[in-house]
Amino acid sequence: MKAIIKCITLAALVSFATALDCSTDVVIKSQADIKALGTCQVFAGKITVSQVPIEELDFTGLQEVRGEMLFTDINSVTKVSLPDLKVVSGGLKFESVRDLHAISMPKLIAVGNFVLSTAPALTTLEFSAGLSQANAITVSDTTATEVRGINVAKVQTLIVDNNHYLKNVNLSSITDINDSVRIAANAPGFNVDLSNLQTLKSADFRNIENILLSNLNKIDGDLTFISNTFSSLDIPKLKTVAKTITIGSSNNLSKLGMQELTFVGGALSVGDNPHLTIIDSFPKLNEVDGTVDITGGYDDLQLPSLTDVRGGMNLQTSSKQFSCDGVNKVRTTVVKGNSYLCKSAVANPTSTIQGVGKLGKGDSIGAASSGSQTALFTIVELGVTSLFVAMMLA
Ligand SMILES: *[C@@H]1O[C@H](CO)[C@@H](O)[C@H](O)[C@H]1NC(C)=O
Ligand SMILES: *[C@@H]1O[C@H](CO)[C@@H](O)[C@H](O)[C@H]1NC(C)=O
Ligand SMILES: *[C@@H]1O[C@H](CO)[C@@H](O)[C@H](O)[C@H]1NC(C)=O
Repeated sequence: MKAIIKCITLAALVSFATALDCSTDVVIKSQADIKALGTCQVFAGKITVSQVPIEELDFTGLQEVRGEMLFTDINSVTKVSLPDLKVVSGGLKFESVRDLHAISMPKLIAVGNFVLSTAPALTTLEFSAGLSQANAITVSDTTATEVRGINVAKVQTLIVDNNHYLKNVNLSSITDINDSVRIAANAPGFNVDLSNLQTLKSADFRNIENILLSNLNKIDGDLTFISNTFSSLDIPKLKTVAKTITIGSSNNLSKLGMQELTFVGGALSVGDNPHLTIIDSFPKLNEVDGTVDITGGYDDLQLPSLTDVRGGMNLQTSSKQFSCDGVNKVRTTVVKGNSYLCKSAVANPTSTIQGVGKLGKGDSIGAASSGSQTALFTIVELGVTSLFVAMMLA
């Protein structure tokens, strides 16, 4: 009798312990903790690995995490092996992993939010089986020279920044980014293939030498290109941008094409691109609801379809060949906002939109990213023109 009771108690204890292991948040302190976890196959909860004095972490047996798996603030770990892991429903995050050289995840195909940030020893990030589902992906502040196996079609946010050795990333699987994308401050000469991307909410692209956006056709927010090294930028299918387009501080840019663009809901801001001398980039652009702010050294600016600018207009060029006559003529019918400036042969062409080129003293700055119809700046200086090549404004 006693023995039976003992037996039952033990069985209850064991099953209780098993339940705990597989569905109670756990903080990993030793290799033994990891081994225990491996008996779970499916773990529901949060696994935290922080400040463990172990070199290699091997999670053999763990197949699925319904919850989060977090590696944070670990200095001694050089290798993390997740040989059986296929799915993590929440975050799979590696943050401040100073000595981590390798992450092995040969079977991982789906993750809620993948984060790799501050990994100054990691050289390769590879999803060997192909990561085909992820809501969010961040690869930030690493020494990775390669990022391979991103195979997702739709993603909410995508961040690839401050990876100073990363020269290429192929993101051609992505068709939609329904929130934001930021790609910035990777290796000099950085190339990115986003050639199947069709729609996105907002984008911030910086320090890029080549970017493929051949199928992008609709943006629900802002589109920003700052400090890129590309010599040409082509977005041949882009039709509408709900908020502001900014193209600034691109020293090498000489050719800009958005052949199908018809509508910009915020400002159109192009400035401080010293080699962009001919701006014939927007042949179909018809309506801009914010300010048209184009500054630089252009000799020629053509906006043949522009008939409705609901904000103001600021056109300034250092070129002596440019004439404001054309735009001055149509100004009253096209430009509805109350600030207007067109000026050529200016020593320091000054954008009135934050983040682009040099900002003039005393100019007020509007919200560059808003689609507001009020004027974004307050300079009113009219009629300074020179009479050379005609500007064409239909
Ligand atoms: C964006 O896409 C993700 C993943 O496909 C989805 O979970 C989310 O609901 C979407 N958000 C919006 C605003 O459409
Ligand atoms: C990106 O990968 C796709 C599919 O593998 C390939 O067709 C394409 O050429 C690659 N892009 C670049 C720029 O290499
Ligand atoms: C971009 O321009 C800089 C000088 O402004 C030059 O040193 C660099 O080689 C150029 N890069 C490309 C890709 O043309």
